[in-house]
Amino acid sequence: MRIVVLSGAGISAESGVPTFRDDKNGLWARFDPYELSSTQGWQDHPERVWAWYLWRHHLVQRVDPNDGHRTVAEWEKITGIEDVTVVTQNVDNLHERAGSSAVHHLHGSLFEFRCDNCDSAYAGELPEMLEPELEAEPPQCTCGGLIRPDIVWFGEQLPERPWQASVDAVQRADLLIVVGTSGIVYPAAGLPEMALAQGTVVVEINPEETPLSSSATLAVRQSASDALPHLLQQLPSLLKRV
Ligand code: APR
Repeated sequence: MRIVVLSGAGISAESGVPTFRDDKNGLWARFDPYELSSTQGWQDHPERVWAWYLWRHHLVQRVDPNDGHRTVAEWEKITGIEDVTVVTQNVDNLHERAGSSAVHHLHGSLFEFRCDNCDSAYAGELPEMLEPELEAEPPQCTCGGLIRPDIVWFGEQLPERPWQASVDAVQRADLLIVVGTSGIVYPAAGLPEMALAQGTVVVEINPEETPLSSSATLAVRQSASDALPHLLQQLPSLLKRV
């Protein structure tokens, strides 16, 4: 059996990574998410955007994967499961830290950086941000550009390689598990539609209803860490009831 897990902010919320839409402590509460996550925001205030991402980078390093991430990683060891591919919209590294070996980041990573001018990857030092600060100077590239987080901001194209790998994995999948995503951001939200159209079983795990809930083969109204550890054992009987 080939499994694809499409994950969103909800799976990491239980580790203490706030969902994108709540991810603002007092210091940044006054800013529109667009100002902190768009090329326009970067052009207008690179030092503010850099500070915001350095702080998120720091926060994510302080939290640990939860039972949801760990269960997905353990599936790789089960006989009869040929392949477990994780397609995530999250920019944290909790799937990798839990032990998943094939993780495609559709929206980039808080742990990768590149030049905003020449696109070269940046592997230099990062300043520690132990307390949130409203401004920090981004490092400069040798070409004169500024180093930015390698994150897909509003209006930017998804990186081609992880997107194509995710489409390929969904096309080969026998089971797609969609966990912790509101399912409103395309093109990621198109992957479950693609799976359903080709007749693949799609299981949604989310305590709340989403636009996918009514068309999914099965919608499990539980948190990721409650549902995932028992999902594969319970799946045959759950599917019989739908
Ligand atoms: N277990 C499972 N699902 C949960 C849990 C949990 N413990 N807690 C919350 N959820 C669900 C919520 O009900 C919601 O549907 O997780 C979803 C989180 O939705 P969003 O915050 O919209 O996150 P996501 O779907 O990942 O957002 C997609 O949009 O903001 C942009 O680029 C950003 O990658 C992000 C993309």
